[in-house]
Amino acid sequence: MADSSIKKFHEKNRDERFKIVESFARLSKEDIKILQSNGGISFDEADHMVENVVGTLSLPLGIATNFKINGKDYLIPMVIEESSIIAAASKAAKIARKHGGFVMKSDESYSIGQIQIVDVNAKSATPKVMKASGKLLKLANSKSKTLSKMGKGAKKITCKTLKTKLGTMLIVELLIDVGDAMGANVTNTMCEGIAPLIEEITGGRVLLRILSNYSTRRLVKGTAVFDKEEIGGRQVVSDIIHAYHFAENDPYRAVTHNKGVMNGIIAVANSTGQDTRAIEATSHAYASKNGNYASLTRWKKDKQGNLVGEIEIPMPVGIVGGISNVHPLIKVCMKILGVKSAKELGCIIGAVGLAQNFSAMRALVSEGIQKGHMKLHAKNIAISSGVPKNKMHEVVSRMVREGNVSVSRAKEILKEL
Ligand code: MEV
Repeated sequence: MADSSIKKFHEKNRDERFKIVESFARLSKEDIKILQSNGGISFDEADHMVENVVGTLSLPLGIATNFKINGKDYLIPMVIEESSIIAAASKAAKIARKHGGFVMKSDESYSIGQIQIVDVNAKSATPKVMKASGKLLKLANSKSKTLSKMGKGAKKITCKTLKTKLGTMLIVELLIDVGDAMGANVTNTMCEGIAPLIEEITGGRVLLRILSNYSTRRLVKGTAVFDKEEIGGRQVVSDIIHAYHFAENDPYRAVTHNKGVMNGIIAVANSTGQDTRAIEATSHAYASKNGNYASLTRWKKDKQGNLVGEIEIPMPVGIVGGISNVHPLIKVCMKILGVKSAKELGCIIGAVGLAQNFSAMRALVSEGIQKGHMKLHAKNIAISSGVPKNKMHEVVSRMVREGNVSVSRAKEILKEL
């Protein structure tokens, strides 16, 4: 079985990295060519995706190593502009391997569609909608032959009444098993498809017909154990738990803590062509599910004193539809991951979020976050200051040592050299 614990991947050159990924994921020569093409899509491809296109913009694509999730090894493509994220995820995954890696599970992928009815007597309309739910579900399912054929599709209708300043509204909700799709399109199509019948049944006026991005029916949950010796001993374990309790009890800290979780989640979502706005929106709403904004992860120690992390997060992701089957590089990223279902992808993304959170807290309770960041930041500054490759190491080291990382300092050091 393929092993993702690759030693010193970061020290390898590009060709060596290609070789490793190629043999791990059985990539074809064509896949490698796509990787080498620097990730671009053609103007025409971009022009078909959105409007008013003038160009494309690429970001770094790196590979996180060491991940073992539910007993399977993964090399994980991550697309992100921030330095240290990919190294931090790989490091956390390496530590987690000692106790078996990440154990994750995912709900079925249920999406929720909402239909808003106004100018309605909600009390008398509700039983009428419920009575017609068989007919409504049938009509909804007629809008997706693909889901119906797989035994998936619209499964349940519910009603809720909202008392607002403008009067009472009836909200009809459609619960849809979207299978391996993210499901926004099919959900919206079904909502729009049943709206006229709902108007007929209720005598009200339908306004919005749209999915809810609050994806509480497609959660990913999971856990990993981080060995106390590997992370620096009992004190570090205890300090990380203190850091977690800070986030759990203070929204100002929790937002930053969860931003760290999202560093990992969004990087994998980017590389696999997911709707990152949907993931962000639902995650932060879920962080507030108990009435105040808190941590998306939980941390405690086990009987042996090891650190145990848990994550629970909505995961509206798909492996069919969207751009995941269209964008050439995203298709290669999917191949590197080797995922067979949206649930599997959700588990991977959740695991990376947990890993990222661990690494951020570990750095924060020890040397702080800047040390790691500074080196890469200094390198970026040096590159943008025109420092040539053979002077890079010296310029970067001096700027970091001096704690003065700037374009002007890089240029001065270069002159001195
Ligand atoms: C930086 O991108 C993320 C962190 O701020 C997360 C955290 O504070 O936990 C380091």
